Amino acid sequence: MADIIKQLQSVLTAEAVLTEPGDLAAYATDAKIKGLPPLVVVLPTETAQVQAIVRLCAQHRLPVIPRGAGTGTVGGAVPEFRALVLDLSRMNRIRTIDRDELLADVQAGVLNADLQREAQQVGLFYPPDPASRATSTLGGNAATNAGGLRAVKYGVTADWVAALEVVTADGQVIHTGVRTRKGVVGYDLTRLFIGSEGTLGIITALTMRLMPLPPAKKTLLGLFATLADAGRAVMAIVRSPIVPAAMELLDSTTLRAVKSRTGDLLPDDIALVLLDVDGSEQEVEQQSAALRELLAAADALEVRVAADEVQADRLWLARRSVSPALYELRPHKYGEDVTVPIHHLVDLFDGVTALATKHRLPHACYGHAGDGNVHVNLLYDPADADEAARAKAARAEVFRLTLALGGTISGEHGVGIAKREFLPWEQSSAMIDLQKRLKRAFDPLGLLNPGKVFP
Ligand code: LAC
Ligand code: ZN
Repeated sequence: MADIIKQLQSVLTAEAVLTEPGDLAAYATDAKIKGLPPLVVVLPTETAQVQAIVRLCAQHRLPVIPRGAGTGTVGGAVPEFRALVLDLSRMNRIRTIDRDELLADVQAGVLNADLQREAQQVGLFYPPDPASRATSTLGGNAATNAGGLRAVKYGVTADWVAALEVVTADGQVIHTGVRTRKGVVGYDLTRLFIGSEGTLGIITALTMRLMPLPPAKKTLLGLFATLADAGRAVMAIVRSPIVPAAMELLDSTTLRAVKSRTGDLLPDDIALVLLDVDGSEQEVEQQSAALRELLAAADALEVRVAADEVQADRLWLARRSVSPALYELRPHKYGEDVTVPIHHLVDLFDGVTALATKHRLPHACYGHAGDGNVHVNLLYDPADADEAARAKAARAEVFRLTLALGGTISGEHGVGIAKREFLPWEQSSAMIDLQKRLKRAFDPLGLLNPGKVFP
């Protein structure tokens, strides 16, 4: 062990190799899942250092767990046994923004919000917008194929990655994808690495696609008496020709959780559909007029337009803070990201309410309703063993219900540690076996984030 630490220190500077228990403790967890502290953490700044680290780990047969900012919720970057954590957060340079080709070359540790801001400064737009954009990295977004608030119009991270630089398990650097607008040569390894949760290779740099920044934007609010009414409104809008840039739903429990952020802006005994439209001034006016009609026709109690940008920002910030804010209601929760076909949205809400009632659990539903992607949150107190057991049982029932409705157990957070035992509920053994064989082809020694994703 002392051996590899010395070797790591010769590849990196000594302060970029963490071995103090106090430093390591921070790496035992992500935003949700607790594991064990790693043996060592390394903080490279260059791809060549990542290569050298991976080669050393292969020599010493030490598992490597890549980590962005640790904002994940399924334990994808959390150690469960003796391992090295490769913290990519210092690889945070935006190398270039190419305004002619609409591409950005970034290192993996660049924060999502930093790219959004830098692009915006030159009139460009990077649409993928996870709730955690201020703190999550683009490499982490790609490793989980993060979705977020604007997927309903613009798609998910994978739709905006043109090319990847990846360090493979044997320490080679490969470049997947193309810098052109199309390209079909060979297998689509870019897409395979995206969402592979660090199990196939280490993403060290990315080429992201950008688009011209829509010049205008407006935020609308539909207030509904019930969650089911709000869900039906979302379904009606999805079927209409209007495609909002964001269409989020917040139930009354969620609204209570963020009351300190919304203040007197909103009542909290309603269900809210929060929408953005974007485009030219004229398109925004047209779309918001059409949406107001659609919301009213779907029995909204009230339709509002955010008074100004300050108010819109406050509402969106409240929306982004829902996941942490729910801990103010109960010390712990299962916060899932199940996704159903859009016409089953209300069936999902009804089913979740029924099973939460049966198990006597406070619950909240919010999230990316326009994608059929609902953050079903089951709130509980781990100190209450009976309540914790009921929450665990209810969670499994949420997954059963989702699958029975033709959905998927994860629309955006991934599988990691938290959901791997449920993978066989969704995928056949032939599917799982093929993926494991792919994993072995990419990582014959089984050192890249071993134990994640698969049961
Ligand atoms: C959100 C995270 C939890 O949408 O995905 O708030
Ligand atoms: Zn989400």
